[in-house]
Amino acid sequence: TKSYQIAVLSGDGIGPEVVKETIKVLDAVSQTYVFELHYHNALIGAVAIDQANEPLPEHTIAVCKRTDAVLFGAIGDPKYDNDTNAAVRPEQGLLALRKELGLFANIRPVKAYNKLINQSPLKENIIQNTDLVIFRELISGIYFGQKSISADGRAASDLCSYSQDEIENIAHLAFQAADKRNKKLTLIDKANVLETSRLWRRVVQSLAAQYPTVEVEYMFVDNAAMQLILNPKQFDVILTENMFGDIISDEASVIGGSIGLLPSASIGTHTALFEPIHGSYPQAKGKGIANPIASILSGAMMLDHLGEHDAAEAIRDAVLHTINEGVLTPDLVKESTYSTTDVGNKIANHVRFRTGHRYQD
Ligand code: IPM
Ligand code: MN
Repeated sequence: TKSYQIAVLSGDGIGPEVVKETIKVLDAVSQTYVFELHYHNALIGAVAIDQANEPLPEHTIAVCKRTDAVLFGAIGDPKYDNDTNAAVRPEQGLLALRKELGLFANIRPVKAYNKLINQSPLKENIIQNTDLVIFRELISGIYFGQKSISADGRAASDLCSYSQDEIENIAHLAFQAADKRNKKLTLIDKANVLETSRLWRRVVQSLAAQYPTVEVEYMFVDNAAMQLILNPKQFDVILTENMFGDIISDEASVIGGSIGLLPSASIGTHTALFEPIHGSYPQAKGKGIANPIASILSGAMMLDHLGEHDAAEAIRDAVLHTINEGVLTPDLVKESTYSTTDVGNKIANHVRFRTGHRYQD
């Protein structure tokens, strides 16, 4: 039987709780589709600072590099958020790992589920049937440019820079995705102001000739922020730089009704990494109220990446059924009594049942 080595980096806050449910679902699906998953836990984030004095220990990098995929939970701890002088921050762990693994493309699909249409504050006719995917550049731009602070602490700077190669790498993936989907690609930039954005436009314009079936559109990020909630159905594949992608993907999560639903895949030159787009939600830690669906769907994206497409589809199908039954955490159903574990169990049971295994409660 095929077997895959999976690095498990649960991280902070609700990370361990949602990852636990994901592993439950992955184990259920791997039985049916007859492959083995072997898990290798490693530290990252605030827990790594606490236990190993650094947000990304060498050992964690080594584990990630020798595995077939990385399953990532969440990162961040409020004790660092207001400490602007902290020497090390949990987030550095994730940023450094993205860089180490060369994860240049972060892929974030956004969908409106019919059953959840009313959970979104946006109007039904606006969001119904939304199906888009954001390709966010992940290891360059302002996140990784030179940072500085003046000696007197009264001035600071973050440099935003991009190279043609960096843009081409992710642009090719976005064009290919558009070609397989609804054949439209929207580059979101600020080319009326930023030199880096003008470079993005030139690169995308010149690649467009290689993808004649794909319609290309250019949109300034301020307008895009508005268009995304005015008329999200106009989008198919969105391509954008690191920070714009970070911001508009949280915005886009409102379409689905909860940020607790959105998964992501980060693809690069080494092992790929799969993580929910949400953060560590420290207020919910240990309360059993975290929504595990974003993590579980990230697990499905991981299986797709490993070539286990049927198993990935079985997970998505089980998630859909669970959503349709209303077995959901309180972010989606007010005063819901279903816990993180209940949702995970339900999805795992659907996977077993729908794929021919005996249903067990
Ligand atoms: C995300 C997160 C990260 C980011 C943080 C935790 C560094 O917000 O994955 O979207 O800004 O990329
Ligand atoms: Mn973010």
